[in-house]
Amino acid sequence: MKTAARPGSRACAPKTGTVSFAGPPLCVVGNINRDIKVAGAPASPHLLRDGETSVSSIVETIGGGGANSACAAAALGADVRFLGKVGADLLGERLRLTLERQGVRAALARDPEQQTGSTVALGLSDGQRHFLSCLPNNDTLRLENLDLGALDGCGHLLRADVWFSEAMLEGGNRRLLAEARRRGLATSLDINFDPRWSGGNSREIRRRKLALRGVLELVDLVHGNRRELCAFTDSPSLPTALKRLIEWGAQSVVVHLGAQGAGWYSGSRWMMEPPCRAVRPIHSTGCGDVLSVCMILLHTRTDLSPREKLRLSNRVVRDFMEGRLDLIPELAS
Ligand SMILES: Nc1ncnc2c1ncn2[C@@H]1O[C@H](COP(=O)(O)OP(=O)(O)OP(=O)(O)O)[C@@H](O)[C@H]1O
Ligand SMILES: [Mg+2]
Repeated sequence: MKTAARPGSRACAPKTGTVSFAGPPLCVVGNINRDIKVAGAPASPHLLRDGETSVSSIVETIGGGGANSACAAAALGADVRFLGKVGADLLGERLRLTLERQGVRAALARDPEQQTGSTVALGLSDGQRHFLSCLPNNDTLRLENLDLGALDGCGHLLRADVWFSEAMLEGGNRRLLAEARRRGLATSLDINFDPRWSGGNSREIRRRKLALRGVLELVDLVHGNRRELCAFTDSPSLPTALKRLIEWGAQSVVVHLGAQGAGWYSGSRWMMEPPCRAVRPIHSTGCGDVLSVCMILLHTRTDLSPREKLRLSNRVVRDFMEGRLDLIPELAS
């Protein structure tokens, strides 16, 4: 949940329009599903009982961290490819059409055995969020579903939503990242939050963490917020988490720091950049994805310092939060 940021520096003044995000194509591999976004549901126990509750809005958009990131990158002017899986159903077709209209070149496997999934994103009046998900298409994603030829000619691979598919965790991610490296791509891994961290079996949690830690040597940019990075590395604090990620082989880390802004760590350098104050924010979810997409698209820009990249990325997030940048499209019918 976000709180209002303190006023940012004067460097925040220019609008996103001054930044170019064009560059070598980005390939995203991750979840794709429908998001049913419910806003303004009262945070009250009545919600858990029989009855009916009026809310301020219900909107149906494309969803999944991977698909959202691909859409955001395309809206920022990048050349984007997306690889993932849908069911052989109408919803899968609507999602494919939505990506296409957004300008994302999608190669979607269609699995007749699995339904395309949906998430109900419940936005409560006290600012808390709760996600109810059923994502069989994403849960069963396998390396064999991905057209790896799409990596050819790309500059960067983003692997998002790493915790959903067991087959990808147990070997698929390693092969995907190795294929990307072999083709000369830079690589990004969004750590995010394993749903099992809240109350799952501790041996399972450990096994899954070890599986993902084992691919860090193939990753140029690790992404996550403080809580996710500390939980993933079993660290008491962010500095320890960052140190461990580099020790385990990652090249650098992009840190989402909420109302404190964003950070970047490379093993020898740490820097933090305050946020750009969002006036009357209308979006509070997906900011991490947008920040990371910007850092990925700016990754090869040798004319910009890491601090300038963070600053530019913060500006884009501010514009997104204020609703001046439409990055996530509604679902095509
Ligand atoms: N209140 C805010 N005002 C201005 N910028 C913000 C604010 N909250 C977040 N940001 C910007 O958005 C970025 C990402 O947000 P955050 O750190 O909350 O990501 P997250 O925890 O991954 O959450 P999510 O991806 O669900 O939005 C921050 O690094 C910062 O640049
Ligand atoms: Mg996030």
